[in-house]
Amino acid sequence: MECSCRWSNGGGRNIHKGALGSIAIGLLLIGGYTAWSVASKPDARTTSQSVAGGDALVEIVVPASLSEQAEVGKRSFEQNCVACHGENAVGRDGLGPPLVHIIYEPNHHADESFQRAVALGVRSHHWSFGNMSAVEGLVRNDVAYIIAYVRELQRANGID
Ligand code: HEC
Repeated sequence: MECSCRWSNGGGRNIHKGALGSIAIGLLLIGGYTAWSVASKPDARTTSQSVAGGDALVEIVVPASLSEQAEVGKRSFEQNCVACHGENAVGRDGLGPPLVHIIYEPNHHADESFQRAVALGVRSHHWSFGNMSAVEGLVRNDVAYIIAYVRELQRANGID
């Protein structure tokens, strides 16, 4: 069969076939790798049920008990943040990052960065989930409780 590519000609045909061959092998390798990496992806679910869709992004230990402040924060987190940051702040695939993550340790993201995130929103810079809009209806004190909650989750997972 005649190759329809413009640049093919008698002498070049073998080279051309060779190139096609290596592209095919390359695609096979990429395909194989993708299948392998999907198959071997560790199951990132937490012990608690994650919110429908948007799988958890980290596996964490949930502390047996929370301080009173953190309990209040947890309820507020579940109303205002869980849709993107996931139950127990483990993140949601495609939606929002886990806050129980070394990136958000107090030294790198001090409490004020949580206050700013809620009050002003966040321009995406650590992940590829896009920007976070400001969350309406919360005062600094509400956010302080949420921070207490997230910090307790972090500490239970060695992020301090
Ligand atoms: C609509 C989805 C969504 C909601 C709701 C949401 N977030 Fe976010 N949040 C994000 C995304 C996306 C990022 C950006 C991550 C990045 O790329 O840096 C983010 C980032 C953050 C950060 C990191 C800020 C920084 O300086 O890097 C904090 C802290 C945070 N969110 C806290 C909260 C809290 C607390 C709530 C609830 C009051 C909340 N978020 C609600 C999606 C959301």
